[in-house]
Amino acid sequence: MPDRQYLVAANWKMNGSLESAKSLVIGIKQGLAGNNNAEVAICPPFIYLPEISGFLSDTSISLGAQNVSHLENGAYTGEISSVMLTDFACRYVIVGHSERRNLYHESDSRVAEKFIAAQAQGLIPILCVGELLEERETNTTEDVIARQLDVVIDKAGISAFANAVIAYEPVWAIGTGKTATPEQAQEVHEFIRLRLARHDNEIANGIRILYGGSVKADNAEQLFKMADIDGGLIGGASLIADDFLTICRAVR
Ligand code: PGA
Repeated sequence: MPDRQYLVAANWKMNGSLESAKSLVIGIKQGLAGNNNAEVAICPPFIYLPEISGFLSDTSISLGAQNVSHLENGAYTGEISSVMLTDFACRYVIVGHSERRNLYHESDSRVAEKFIAAQAQGLIPILCVGELLEERETNTTEDVIARQLDVVIDKAGISAFANAVIAYEPVWAIGTGKTATPEQAQEVHEFIRLRLARHDNEIANGIRILYGGSVKADNAEQLFKMADIDGGLIGGASLIADDFLTICRAVR
């Protein structure tokens, strides 16, 4: 069994205020102190990164961003570059979240460009992949996941996956309270690992593949037990310190 350290990452999305963000990070920090088997990361909204970064500086909790520009710098109103993220000690950045793909029309190749731009500055991309409900219902899940992955493998090269994380997030499970069963998730996680193994076995075995989509305090343990699930990307449940802490502790 390869030694993959579990990662539990909080994706706060566009929720809260400065006050609520501060009290949430304090709650998580206190609750975790010396008490977790997993690496824990928090991805707040961009504008709270400096503040949250200050709270995390004396902890082992990592900081991440939810998005990044595919470009380096220039006249791109409203965008945030990888360099800017590294200024605030970000370690991770989520790329290709389904909300970005679907609501903001980010293409597979744009996602690959973001992945590359992030790595160029030493950030670790958390590459999200996942199928829509109609894709699952028409049995095209594997085709969709393969397409989303292959574009990044083609553009970035397989060796780039030595410094990346993948999150499998079935779109029908995100924010819906409908979680994939541990078996359904495991099936896709294994597929992802095998897809990478076609190019490089060692990288495939070493990469952490997180599950995301309605992970809650009461289902995390079952999901995290599966052979190819190496942690979670947590949305709604990461906004409640106690729930998020229970999920972090579900890693054994
Ligand atoms: P959820 O979101 O836990 O609220 O389903 C997960 C995600 O979108 O990363």
